[in-house]
Parts: sequence; C-alpha cells; structure tokens
Amino acid sequence: MKTSLENAASTASVRISSFDPVAQAVRDGLRVTPKWLPAWLFYDAVGSGLFEQITALPEYYPTRTERAIFAAHAQAIITAALQVFERKHGIGGTLRLLELGSGTASKTGILLAAAIDRQGLTEYLPIDVSDVALDEAQQSLTQLLGKVRVLPQVANYVTDALRIPPHSGPTLALYIGSSIGNFAPDEAVAVLRNLRAQLRPGDSLLLGTDLVKDEALLVAAYDDAQGVTAAFNLNVLERLNRDLRANFDLSRFRHRARWNADESRIEMHLESTTAQPVHVPGAGMVAHFRQGETIHTENSYKFTGQSLRELLAAAGFDVVQTWLDEREWFAVTLAAVVS
Ligand code: AVI
Repeated sequence: MKTSLENAASTASVRISSFDPVAQAVRDGLRVTPKWLPAWLFYDAVGSGLFEQITALPEYYPTRTERAIFAAHAQAIITAALQVFERKHGIGGTLRLLELGSGTASKTGILLAAAIDRQGLTEYLPIDVSDVALDEAQQSLTQLLGKVRVLPQVANYVTDALRIPPHSGPTLALYIGSSIGNFAPDEAVAVLRNLRAQLRPGDSLLLGTDLVKDEALLVAAYDDAQGVTAAFNLNVLERLNRDLRANFDLSRFRHRARWNADESRIEMHLESTTAQPVHVPGAGMVAHFRQGETIHTENSYKFTGQSLRELLAAAGFDVVQTWLDEREWFAVTLAAVVS
C-alpha cells in the first residue's frame, strides 16, 4: 500500500514532471527489485568530466590500448576498408568516415590522418546526441582542418533512425571505445542493425571492443585506487538530488564493481550501507532500501573472438580483419556489410 507521502508525491509528479526522462527513469528503476538506473544518467556535465578522467587512469586500459592499436595500424585499417569496396565493385573510390557517438573524437584523428595521407581531402560525419560534444570533436580536429570536411549530425543513434547522406565511394563507420559493450546483447544487435540499414555493400564497420581477461584487471579498471570511478557512479545520486530534489545521502551508498562471468560483463552498482528511505519528489516517489541492497547502474560487456563474430553476424556484418594489442586486451575489428 502507498504511504500518504507517496500518494501526495505521485499526484504532484503528474503536475511537475510526468514527461521528464530522468524522473521516468527513476520511476521505472527504483520501484522494482532489483533496482536499476540507466547508464545515460552518468553523463551530465560533471559525469562527462569524470569519464574523461577515467580514460586517463592507470587502471583503465581500454582507451589507451585502443589508441595504441590505431596508432600502430591506422594505415592498414584504411587500406583494408578501401579493399572491401574495391573487391565488391571492381573500382576504388574516396573513403569517408562516419562515427557513432563521436564524443570528443580524440582517437578518430589518427584514422582521419591516415585517410588524408592516403587520399587527401576526407569527409568526416560525426553523429552524437550532444551538440557540445560535436563542437569539441570539430575543435580536436583543428590540426587536420583544411584536409577534413566535417559534417556533424545531432542524433540519438539508439532511438532515432539514422539518415546518412548518399556517397559514391566507400563509407567506413566507426563505433569505437567499446561503447557497444554498454548495451545488452539484443540492444547491441539493434544498434548495429540500425547502422547496417544505412550502409551499402562495399561499406564497412570498425568496431572497438574490450575483451574478456583476468578478473582482477577487469575489476580494477572499474574500481580504481583514486576513487574516480566511484565518484562517477555516485554522481548519479547527486544528479537525482539536483534534478529531482531527491535526498540521497551519498555517505550511505558505496560504489561496487563486480565481474559477472555468466553474462561476461562488469556490473557497476550503488550499494546502500543502511536500511533507508529516499524521497524523490521530482519523480513522485519514495524509494525504500534494505541494508546491502544495490542499484544496478551499468553493464560493460566484454567479448571473445567468438562472441564478436556472433554479434556482427546477427547485425548483418562479416568480420574482415581484427587488430589486437600485444596483451590481447582490446580488439579493433573491421567488418564488411553482408550483401
Ligand atoms: C563508455 N563506456 C565504454 C565505459 C565502459 O568502460 O564501459 C563507461 C565506464 N564506466 C565506468 N568506467 C567507464
């Protein structure tokens, strides 16, 4: 049965915030057991800054490992993408690069520079929900300006149908940073299918994915010694305090990172250290926590060669070539559109 406070708050919510996606996420996730919140809640201005810090942490190997793979193999990647097109059509063409969720495009410059070396002027189509990120992407490419034509597009590649302008040559679509790992397997297939629907035979996808490895290394990457990932996770509660006037006491929650071997994923949780009610007026509810109960805030799936091939095949792509770092911690896979 609802308490009078919950009733009062839910009535208020109809007036205040029934179409607020943050409030809706809280209603969807904190009224059920187990409790959960969607990972997009991490990325307010503070969370985006914390994520940038995470990418430079000693324990967080994915960003620097993927960058090193690009630095070592950018020319080979561009050549292989051009060959996919040539084999399909019997003639070459000018390659353009497209990127899903480009963010600040900090690693993309390496691939763009290789494409420019190879063919001169290159088009780059970054797609991101954030126009701020698209501006930053453009700025981070200033060294290449004059040789790269940036055509940014503000879109949510998860929820919106993509609209990619036609091009006579090959398109290489980048989906890097292991962002695909933050989706459940069926969602990951849907995201890649959405992209596949906009590509043509001869086009290809470059997918960056983190690989299954020793559990201690994985857990450390999501529970660093400086506590930056803990701050990133707890910032979700600060965000709810600010956006929805919630009263989460951050000293009564702790960051947890655990490896779920059955699902092949790192899970991030926020664990309540005491039994406590938390009022969330902006979502019209009170969430009750048991001691030790967690809010599941993120999954980060880790892949094997086999699971990667299966994911790509289910989305309509064929693996052409995979580049790994020396330790085989991260994979960059070129996959051709299946015609
Ligand atoms: C954005 N994404 C690929 C990161 C990851 O590794 O899953 C998000 C992250 N969460 C905690 N640390 C980094």
